[in-house]
Amino acid sequence: MGDATVAIVMGSDSDWPVMEACYQQIRSLGIGVVVEVISAHRTPDRVSEFVSTAEQRGVRVFIAAAGMAAALPGVVAAHTTLPVIGVPLSSGVLQGVDSLLSIVQMPPGIPVATVAIGSAGAKNAALLAAQILALSDARLKKALTDLRREQAAAVEEKSRSLKDKLAGA
Ligand code: RP5
Repeated sequence: MGDATVAIVMGSDSDWPVMEACYQQIRSLGIGVVVEVISAHRTPDRVSEFVSTAEQRGVRVFIAAAGMAAALPGVVAAHTTLPVIGVPLSSGVLQGVDSLLSIVQMPPGIPVATVAIGSAGAKNAALLAAQILALSDARLKKALTDLRREQAAAVEEKSRSLKDKLAGA
């Protein structure tokens, strides 16, 4: 595992139970990753400092996760031209629709690539970050191609086993 090329930032440590799967997916692909709890609302100066110095530390892609008003992905994007993937989390009474709308509705000029709410989005954020890095990394490209093949084989196996079950019923 080399230096961290992916930075996962999240608004609170309460986001970690969902974002741990994102972290593990990135690690399983052999990508260096750093994790930081920073909040657009509670620690705005720290967000600015962390993001604006990340590229010189080797970071190439940001994954920013937040719940509720979820300003973090947009604020991260405001401080960098590196790609930013936003993960909306379900941490308030609006069950993540609040954070989805906050993250996806960026004004023109400051893009955030928004994924699904919660654990599906956390996993896809990891894979999308890997796909971005794979543009210039043949080893990673092969790892992602292998993963797709394994995923397809698992679906075919599920289909076979469902058919066997129905045939035996
Ligand atoms: C957001 O507020 C965080 O990303 C988290 O999802 C939510 C609640 O934070 P805590 O009150 O649990 O720290 O900024």
